[in-house]
Amino acid sequence: MSAVQHSTRVGIIGGGPAGLMLSHLLSCAGIENLVVEARDRDTIHHTHRAGILEAGSVAMLRDTGVDGRIDTLGDEHSGIDLRFGGESHLLDFRERVDATVTLYAQNEVFLDLSLARERDGGEVYYEATVSELFDVTSARPGFAFTDKEGARHEVRADLIVGADGSRSFTRRWIPEAERTNYTMEYPFAWFGILTEAPKSSPELIYARSDRGFALISQRSETVQRMYFQCSPETSAEDWSEERIWDELQARVAGPDGLELKTGPIFDKTVLPFRSFVRAPLRHGNLFLAGDAGHTVPPTGAKGLNLAFADVKVLFEAIDSWNGAGSRALLDAYSDTALKRVWKAQHFSYWMTSMLHTRADATPFEHARTLGELESVVSSEHGKRYLAEAYTGWPHA
Ligand code: PHB
Repeated sequence: MSAVQHSTRVGIIGGGPAGLMLSHLLSCAGIENLVVEARDRDTIHHTHRAGILEAGSVAMLRDTGVDGRIDTLGDEHSGIDLRFGGESHLLDFRERVDATVTLYAQNEVFLDLSLARERDGGEVYYEATVSELFDVTSARPGFAFTDKEGARHEVRADLIVGADGSRSFTRRWIPEAERTNYTMEYPFAWFGILTEAPKSSPELIYARSDRGFALISQRSETVQRMYFQCSPETSAEDWSEERIWDELQARVAGPDGLELKTGPIFDKTVLPFRSFVRAPLRHGNLFLAGDAGHTVPPTGAKGLNLAFADVKVLFEAIDSWNGAGSRALLDAYSDTALKRVWKAQHFSYWMTSMLHTRADATPFEHARTLGELESVVSSEHGKRYLAEAYTGWPHA
């Protein structure tokens, strides 16, 4: 059986938020593109990920006519509660860096983008498995995929973009001799829950306790998202609702008597994580964006924001090459994107190590970390750095 042939300008492998956002921006600029995604829409829409969008990410959705529900469902936050030693420290972002973030779940961002692509006639193949890439250093690279009916397709494009997430298949096409992997493993994971309960506090609570980290996040007035640090070997089934609430409550307990508002738990997941960067983010006419090129631990919620920042830089490079014929921005893409990636890697690593506890930590290390937290909340400069990094550095 012969393959269905496609010819386009930009072939995008991965139809999560990064791939779809790039496709949307390219189509708005009149640049033909095609997206293939391995999963089905429903699976992606029901995969719970982080929920904090930097102002720059919100603007990318709003200003480009994605026309989503962010204005009605998104919840603007102008600070976080940094809690340790059983005491809360409210850190106001607006006051320090005149910026806010918006709580809007990543799976809703995906839904908005996928509906916008459908509305605008975008060419997106879900449940499509890419089997190989061809000629990525040539002027006409390509890839082959099998669609959900089992038919084989071959795509030829000017550029290929790998936006296929943390288990990226595409990134293998950067030859071993030309790539460097930077990896940092952590001896813990997050236990995440969704619960039908009212908010426990106006702002998100990032809590360090001797029992480990806990994050009290939100989804709406009636649904809340919470996490607590656990061992990567933890099995979600071993945890009853009662045990989960006891553990979460113990991690935020303090003399102020903070009490979490509880309710039925309808989703439990253990989320392992690591810090990872593959450099460069380019080989010939293959470009990596988002989790395919780098992943961060979830503390600080930089993953999707970083993916959108890559997409913005990459889109502007493609647009400039398309319009002015210059490849200068494409040539600079990897270096430009990696500057922000490493700042976010530092911030995510810092938040993670400062707020989590390690079983093998010495008494010195425990006490030093409390000193570190104290030096943030007692210093205008410390608070300002955290506020600046959390709300996101301006897009280039
Ligand atoms: C979430 O609501 O899922 C969330 C919020 C903040 C984080 C991580 C996850 O730092």
